[in-house]
Amino acid sequence: MNIDGQAWRTIGLEEGGRSVWVIDQTQLPHRFTTRSISSADEAAEAIATMVVRGAPLIGVTGAYGLMLALQADPSDACLGAAFDQLNATRPTAVNLRWALERVRAKVAPLPLEQRAEAAQAEAGAIADEDVAMCEAIGDHGLAIFQELAAARPTERQGQPFNVLTHCNAGWLATVDWGTALAPIYKAHRAGLNIHVWVDETRPRNQGASLTAYELGREGVPHTVIVDNAGGHLMQHGQVDAVIVGTDRTTRTGDVCNKIGTYLKALAAHDNGVPFYVALPASTIDWSIADGVAGIPIEARSALEVTHLQGRAPDGAITTVQLTPDGSPGFNPAFDVTPARLVTALITERGVAPATEEGLKALYAEPLAAQ
Ligand code: MRU
Repeated sequence: MNIDGQAWRTIGLEEGGRSVWVIDQTQLPHRFTTRSISSADEAAEAIATMVVRGAPLIGVTGAYGLMLALQADPSDACLGAAFDQLNATRPTAVNLRWALERVRAKVAPLPLEQRAEAAQAEAGAIADEDVAMCEAIGDHGLAIFQELAAARPTERQGQPFNVLTHCNAGWLATVDWGTALAPIYKAHRAGLNIHVWVDETRPRNQGASLTAYELGREGVPHTVIVDNAGGHLMQHGQVDAVIVGTDRTTRTGDVCNKIGTYLKALAAHDNGVPFYVALPASTIDWSIADGVAGIPIEARSALEVTHLQGRAPDGAITTVQLTPDGSPGFNPAFDVTPARLVTALITERGVAPATEEGLKALYAEPLAAQ
């Protein structure tokens, strides 16, 4: 994607593969900086503190973290310890476990001296595939947006096609393109008059800081709204479609995504607004049928609720306290939207109803790289 005229991915190798650079998302939107990661410990820390975030990018960072661990020590003991350390950093997004398992399966049968190089190749393949999958999601989602836009009543044809999104499921959450934002980028480039309502996404404000940043860099018209505004906008016909990403989707089509997604799905359902979820295959957890009962929900620090980070007038990035001294906070980071509220799943293989049959039909053929 495009930052000041330069094409960027979110992660890449440096120093001949001895370290990895990532965009430091904790500094956005106020500072665009990269950070080097040169050990599994540093990779784990970057994931846990949300220097990198978003289900697909967490997975790729984890894969490179295993590579760094094996460069230091290719033994089985180190492989196992690094796997566990990285896997424990964020429990909800299943892409992390998926990517770690994929690298481990590739390197475990190999002689020790070949492991680090094989891990590098596998992590690179996961990253490249993520880009291709996200672009394909963009193409499938574009077709849906074009159909919905064309089906609007004649008097609304000249108006912007309004899409609401929650959290950040853009290129910053993946290696490039994004999941939910990929169809938006494709639509904008195809000349559709698209406008995006960006949920701020409390408590960490991935919408206000990251989605708004991305859309701005790509020149996509957008407006940041408070999380509570979505239902009102839908009641007044100002949302043509909702599209979000997901951190884990069950085989039955239940969708676990950033806290607040469920409320948007309820409001969309009540107002007849289509609610789409965009995801690559790496986000499907085929082992779980009931998302509410089966998906672990990450509980993050209460400080993310009681405090807020932003830019002070002097340019310094600063944190302020919102709540009275002594008021506790509680911070579940994700919620589950039941499949019945999802209009369709948009994957790299096409569009499916959010049902077990729908997903199985799309993924009847095994994934090429698995
Ligand atoms: O806690 P985060 O910022 O990692 O959560 C990210 C989201 O919830 C995204 O919507 C999700 O990962 C899908 S992204 C492609």
